[in-house]
Amino acid sequence: MNDVKIHSLPAHLRVAFTEAVADRVAAGARGDTVLGRPEWQLPERLADQLRDWLGNPDPVDGFRVVRGLFDGFAQPGPTPAHWAETDPDDSAAHDVALALAARLLGRVFGWTDQQDGRVVHNILPSRGYEQMQVGASSTVPLTWHTEDGFHPERADLLLLACIRNPDAIGTLLAGIQRAPLSPEAIEQLRRPLLVIEPDDSYEDEDAAHEERIGMATVWDGDHGLGVRYDPSYTVTLTDDPAFSAAYQQLGAAFEECGFIVPLEPGDLLMVDNNAVVHGRIAFRARYDGTDRWLKRVLVRAQGVRPTRELLEHGYHQQQTDPENQVVPAGV
Ligand SMILES: [Fe+2]
Repeated sequence: MNDVKIHSLPAHLRVAFTEAVADRVAAGARGDTVLGRPEWQLPERLADQLRDWLGNPDPVDGFRVVRGLFDGFAQPGPTPAHWAETDPDDSAAHDVALALAARLLGRVFGWTDQQDGRVVHNILPSRGYEQMQVGASSTVPLTWHTEDGFHPERADLLLLACIRNPDAIGTLLAGIQRAPLSPEAIEQLRRPLLVIEPDDSYEDEDAAHEERIGMATVWDGDHGLGVRYDPSYTVTLTDDPAFSAAYQQLGAAFEECGFIVPLEPGDLLMVDNNAVVHGRIAFRARYDGTDRWLKRVLVRAQGVRPTRELLEHGYHQQQTDPENQVVPAGV
């Protein structure tokens, strides 16, 4: 899609933000520590200006591409072979910038069982994961999904920052507001007749033994319908053909209205995780240090969700705060 609107950070904000990030990195801040120290917060005026400018994704489109936040930083070294091998010093400026920007938009969090509880995730292809439905995959398309759709406290905002993407491997987006669905299908999809289990990037292997609490696929959100969708990890609790047909119609609708955002180094993609599903085209990883490398941060804001989600156990996956401490449930 060629008409994806790019929002370029004004020069005066870019300069002030770059300086603030560089100062904090020089003082020892890293992506997973910068939000824990009050003295590393952004100056209030800069924070207000940046927050106003970043805004939130368009309520109908559900996404926003921001360019320029990372322009002042040196390019990190080779793409690591695995998220666990990422050197926090190597991409410190990008990590700190992303974490500081993310906090302007809501509560930044991680998951205890994902990437060691860190709040800045590294998304890069890894050997052995090529064909899985996780961010480290490559040779299979990553199918449409809501980020962490299994959990009632999943992110409202998903932030993806591009470190490198030499082959212009596209990130796919599809929004529920533009999905061509019949009124009958929407009514079916409101029924809490499926469950989404944790994906394979989590360490919990007992999800199948948990109580199955039905989840609604669509609901009335802040700006129209909300959506929760991850067919690769879904168990349907009914054999009602009307529901199955509606669910199939939803998948076809995403295919129809979906589009590619080709992220470039330095781009930040903000995705409304309540209104937009995302995926990725297939590609062949090179594993030579030049592969596509994204940073991911999850943000909880004030998204409207079905009250029924309060009944869910979230498969006992717990959140971590920016200091890697477990967040009490319900925060
Ligand atoms: Fe994802």
